[in-house]
Amino acid sequence: MSDKASIKSGPDHIGIIMDGNGRWAQSQGLSRIKGHQQGVETCRRVIEACQELDIHYLTLYAFSAENWKRPETEVNALMELLELFLMRETDTLIKHGIKLHAIGRIHELPAKPRAALEQAMEATSHFKDWHLVLALNYSSRNEIVDATRAIVKKTIKGKLYPEDIEWEDIKGKLYTDGLPDPDLIVRTSGENRLSNFLLMQSAYAEFYFTPTCWPDFTKAHLQEAIDSYHSRERRFGRTGEQLDRETSLSR
Ligand code: FPP
Repeated sequence: MSDKASIKSGPDHIGIIMDGNGRWAQSQGLSRIKGHQQGVETCRRVIEACQELDIHYLTLYAFSAENWKRPETEVNALMELLELFLMRETDTLIKHGIKLHAIGRIHELPAKPRAALEQAMEATSHFKDWHLVLALNYSSRNEIVDATRAIVKKTIKGKLYPEDIEWEDIKGKLYTDGLPDPDLIVRTSGENRLSNFLLMQSAYAEFYFTPTCWPDFTKAHLQEAIDSYHSRERRFGRTGEQLDRETSLSR
């Protein structure tokens, strides 16, 4: 989408930092794992809501590269939930014409969820209109490291001169190559930070922070985030007057 188009419409791409599963569970006397299970239900609900609200790209931060530091039982439970989600939801993705993508160091995931992921991506690879992106073992800083390594290899081979390197070259080596930048980033559970999520891609994104924990997040909350997005003026470096002129010219 051109930035001019996204000023007036959209969001076309929403990224969500799904936070608060643990606190939601603990507040009800449940185990953290129950919170993650409930979080998976919210994923299903939000994927459906995105289609209803005409949002073509949804990126879910499902497991960060830093999440390996959690207790082993919790990491194992999250990997099992991921595998189950992929096995159970692939048919739904196919039914709704949703293409599944993954961003992150996918090759480092355990064999079973990785195989389920690869199968689901293969089975949905021909869809074009709707996109679900799972950020798994994802870290923006690792993404920059991996992109830099790829660029350096090209320069060593003499295929790219250092002085010719532009943003487009780096962008083309990010895990998100081929995907549009997010228009809106949502974080649940009252935390106001990005935690290494889509740092480069969200350069011009709008941010929406809600105190609602992820298991309680509904289509109505998503609509509130979208309403907030629509109340903002996205200028992409231009002045408000320039935007007004462009809007009146395009009418
Ligand atoms: C943050 O809550 C959530 C996570 C680290 C994982 C998100 C995972 C899911 C929603 C389930 C798996 C997803 C898929 C797509 C299968 P937290 O545990 O950090 O909550 P807390 O901050 O309250 O402790």
